[in-house]
Order: sequence, then structure tokens, then C-alpha cells
Amino acid sequence: MTGEADKKEARYQRIYVQISDLLKKTNELTARMATINAVLYHKMDGFFWVGFYLLREGRLLVGPYQGPLACMELAAGKGVCWAGINRAETVIVPDVHAFSGHIACDSRSKSEIVVPLTNQHGTIIGVLDIDSNLINHFNAVDAEYLKKITELLFRV
Ligand code: SME
Repeated sequence: MTGEADKKEARYQRIYVQISDLLKKTNELTARMATINAVLYHKMDGFFWVGFYLLREGRLLVGPYQGPLACMELAAGKGVCWAGINRAETVIVPDVHAFSGHIACDSRSKSEIVVPLTNQHGTIIGVLDIDSNLINHFNAVDAEYLKKITELLFRV
């Protein structure tokens, strides 16, 4: 691994422990989401927007987030967040302008990662969405740790 990748992994290891400890204080989902956003947004380099989009009766609506103003509702079936839900897997987009149907809430976003949220019943309830103002910012290390962090949401 490169030095940068090692640094990223070391930082994720630290914040995973921190988030895990913080989330023990409540199992309330909104409080947990807000806490995850604050830690990721302020501690990870290049995280320009961090937040949740949540399914409500077939619609995908914004939940807690940190960063610039974002779209409140994402047109059904279009964009990276819906791709994460429909594929039921993490989607990494190195260059958002090359992703057909990408929904641009802020023109400064250059790359993106979307991690589906699977609850304790195995149902997808939404996604964690992170945008970077840097091109090609996300890789397998982000996918691995962000998945582990989203799993903490549903820990009892
Ligand atoms: N780019 C996302 C929309 C949400 S914003 O990035 C905050 C998408 O294509 O679904």
C-alpha cells in the first residue's frame, strides 16, 4: 500500500473506534446518523459532503447531513444513490461527470461513494452518501470501513 492509503486506513481505524463508542450512548437512528456525519465530515480529508438519503414509501429523501445544501429528493431510479439501492452494493464513482444519470447537487463534487444501509431485518432503508471535491478520492479502503461504520447504525 502507498503511504497515503496507509494513512487513510489508520485514520479510519481510529474513527471507527470513536464512532463505535459514541453510538453506544443511544440506539436512536437519527442521533446515530448525525454523529457519524459529524465525525466523518470533520476528520476525513476531502469529504466535501457526508449524509444519508432515506427511503420513504418508494421515495429517496435527504436525511441528516453535513456540508453544502443538497437535493431534498432524488428522482426515482436515477443517479448514484439509487444505483446503490438498486444494486444492493457499494458504488464508487471516480469521476461523477462520467457517471450517466449522476445527480449534481453541487457542482464542486467530483467523486462519490454510496453505501447501502441494510437494517437488522436485511431490508435496505437508504444510503450513506459521501462526495469529494477531489477526483478519484474513494477506494476499497473507504468501501470497507464505511460499510463497517454503517453497520454500527443497527447495532443493538
Ligand atoms: N450525487 C447523488 C445525489 C446526492 S448528492 O451527491 C449530495 C446522486 O447522483 O444520487
